Amino acid sequence: MSTTILDVIRTKRDGGALSDEQIRWFITGYTAHEVADEQAAALLMAIVWRGMTERELRTWTGAMIDSGIRMDLSGVPRPTVDKHSTGGVGDKISLPLCPLVAACGAAVPQLSGRGLGHTGGTLDKMESIPGWSATVAPDRYLDLLEDPGAVICAAGDDLAPADRRLYALRDVTATVESIPLIASSIMSKKIAEGTGALVLDVKFGSGAFMVERNRAAELAATMVELGEAAGVRTAALLTAMDIPLGNTAGNALEVQESLEVLSGGGPADVVELTVALAELMCELAGVDADPSAVLRSGAAMDTWRRMVRSQGGDPDAALPVAPHVETIAAEADGVLGRLDARHVGEAAWRLGAGRSRKEEAVSAVAGVRWHRRPGDRVSRGDVLVELHTGDPTRLPAAVDALEGAWEIGSEAPERVPLVSGRIG
Ligand code: URA
Repeated sequence: MSTTILDVIRTKRDGGALSDEQIRWFITGYTAHEVADEQAAALLMAIVWRGMTERELRTWTGAMIDSGIRMDLSGVPRPTVDKHSTGGVGDKISLPLCPLVAACGAAVPQLSGRGLGHTGGTLDKMESIPGWSATVAPDRYLDLLEDPGAVICAAGDDLAPADRRLYALRDVTATVESIPLIASSIMSKKIAEGTGALVLDVKFGSGAFMVERNRAAELAATMVELGEAAGVRTAALLTAMDIPLGNTAGNALEVQESLEVLSGGGPADVVELTVALAELMCELAGVDADPSAVLRSGAAMDTWRRMVRSQGGDPDAALPVAPHVETIAAEADGVLGRLDARHVGEAAWRLGAGRSRKEEAVSAVAGVRWHRRPGDRVSRGDVLVELHTGDPTRLPAAVDALEGAWEIGSEAPERVPLVSGRIG
């Protein structure tokens, strides 16, 4: 009997499991524009409610991988290992991490898409470096993995094309928040990328996709299983995202902060997470190195400079700076009790650092810098945050977004560990 989309939707709507054939038929048909958006949306909503069995999820992810090419990195003379973060405010970790792991001896093939959301993605941050290009010709890609050993670049249209269509539809149909749909979306792209090992940074808290830690743990375990089943050594760290990472959110601002980390300084939380992820990446890749010592030695900075140059960038060029900077001061004396990542991310986005539609340009200079972190003492009149923008008409909306973002009280908040668990 031939498969019909109505049968597929009904099966899932009524709580049944889809057959492998139905799943492959749907993914192939939707990628080829042979299934209508409204029908695909109905199926996605049924999946949000009903979930997927392990077998369904493996087949679904496999079909998404098979919708495009799977890269072959077997010719790279170093073990390959990549990192994926589920995303958070001020998350610039890929910038110091990729050259650090390359300097430790592994190769880092980081293919990225352009995300939506609070701040730009890694490619947007890198593009604030004068001359740097996210486009790398396929024949150069393997050479760059050999030397300098890390490539951050745009994924081609032929990498998991099913995900591109499905993600765009999920984004406009309130069907993003589903563990099987998120796990298959992320893992299909990472498995297709051809990496031998993968470390996931799965965030939870107010500034993350998953607010609750147990949901983040479930997502992490689901992704680790998918990776391992596809022959990719995979492990995840669960990390807190209530407070934004580092001291800045915004593209050029975050590049500047990453340079501080590569120079041996930078905010303690960015250094801690960079080193923790690098240690796990080296472990999975089978590379015997001490990332903390490599960072201190300056070797990661040397690799960064070669990475930037190899993609047309000038590592010595000044980064763009916002022409308009407004400050907000503390309204009372006391201790900063909270700095909410979601509010800060929203403010950075309103200043122009992120996009709400895929085709929108992001501003390199827009963003937020915060001068105090929870637990710090503040005096009335101290500058708490700076708002950076190229377009001053955006300032009032960003100020509004920060309404209620912090509290000044008399007691320091309880410290939450940044890295709170490992899965895999
Ligand atoms: N990132 C992705 O690539 N896919 C999702 O579904 C969510 C986050």
